[in-house]
Amino acid sequence: MSSLTGIGGRLAVRLQSLTRPQVIVLIVVLAVVAGIWTAAATGHQGLAVSLVAVLLLGVLLGILHLSRWMGGLHRANQAAHRDLRVVVEQMQRRVVATVEKERVTAGDRHQELTRTITRGLRQNGHGNDLLLRAQSREIEAMFQLFAEFTPRAPMPSSGDFALNPTDLLELLHIVRLRRPQLVVELGSGTSTVWLAYALEKSGGRLISLDHDEDYAGKTREMLDAHGLSAVAEVRTAPLTELVADGKTYRWYDVEKLADVRDIDLLLIDGPPASTGPDARYPAMHALESRLAPVATVVLDDANRPDEQDAVRRWVENVAGLTAEPHLLGRHAVLSYSRSGATASVPA
Ligand SMILES: C[S@@+](CC[C@H](N)C(=O)[O-])C[C@H]1O[C@@H](n2cnc3c(N)ncnc32)[C@H](O)[C@@H]1O
Repeated sequence: MSSLTGIGGRLAVRLQSLTRPQVIVLIVVLAVVAGIWTAAATGHQGLAVSLVAVLLLGVLLGILHLSRWMGGLHRANQAAHRDLRVVVEQMQRRVVATVEKERVTAGDRHQELTRTITRGLRQNGHGNDLLLRAQSREIEAMFQLFAEFTPRAPMPSSGDFALNPTDLLELLHIVRLRRPQLVVELGSGTSTVWLAYALEKSGGRLISLDHDEDYAGKTREMLDAHGLSAVAEVRTAPLTELVADGKTYRWYDVEKLADVRDIDLLLIDGPPASTGPDARYPAMHALESRLAPVATVVLDDANRPDEQDAVRRWVENVAGLTAEPHLLGRHAVLSYSRSGATASVPA
């Protein structure tokens, strides 16, 4: 009884889920079946057979409709499958193109990196090569310096803040050739000792200015140790304001050279660049009037922009000042000749 109730329930649910055309077909089929049954029961054999034929025809038409519907469904399914395949292929192509693009970009980046590393290695090698050659030049110059002089005490180091051996070598060559009677040096240190040895030999004297009392004191001690205090003296000249070409600079107190005349050789190696821009430019403005009629001016660190600019402006503005070619080092050599004066090289 309960199973009958279950079957009835499920049947009711199925009937409720039928569409309107399905309900109409079902009612028509039930009506025809009822007609057959009634015709057969009431002895109308002909009508019953006719109704059976109509029912069979209906079933046949139903099967035909069903097969056409399923065929349509199959075609729609195939079309959807084709569309899906096209979409998948397009996506595959896009993925492959993206991967290929990334691969090419990564290849380019790799090549660029390799080129940069190779360039760096080459430059580094070139830099090392230049450094090695510069060191060889300085060592050769050092040998020549010590071949010319035999110091009476350990010599202070050259290079860094002090003049390089190549610069010292050419400076002492100038002293040997031109035999200056009075040398003024701006910025004391190792060069003061070497210059003093050269002047002791050639016959001349040196006045060195230093803005810093400590460095001035150290240089005085070195001169004492080498027995050169009679040849060279160090004067402390603190930096004070000095106006040159309408601009204010911090430069040595010129009063410290008030007694000085006829400088034959002027070595400009101070004040240090750290004291201000164009730190050495005022030198010619302050000391031109104290130069001998014919003199030589040597400027160290002439490879730096400030010093190159100073040389250019001096040559433009100071009458009788010309740049000379020089042999070695990083300094500039200039000759000064006051108008009407002629150079005389001592024998
Ligand atoms: C370029 S240095 C002069 C060097 C000197 N003409 C020589 O060849 O040894 C200029 C000034 O810098 C200062 N100075 C010297 N050695 C220094 C150092 N190691 N560090 C900082 N300043 C220094 C001194 O006051 C010196 O007068």
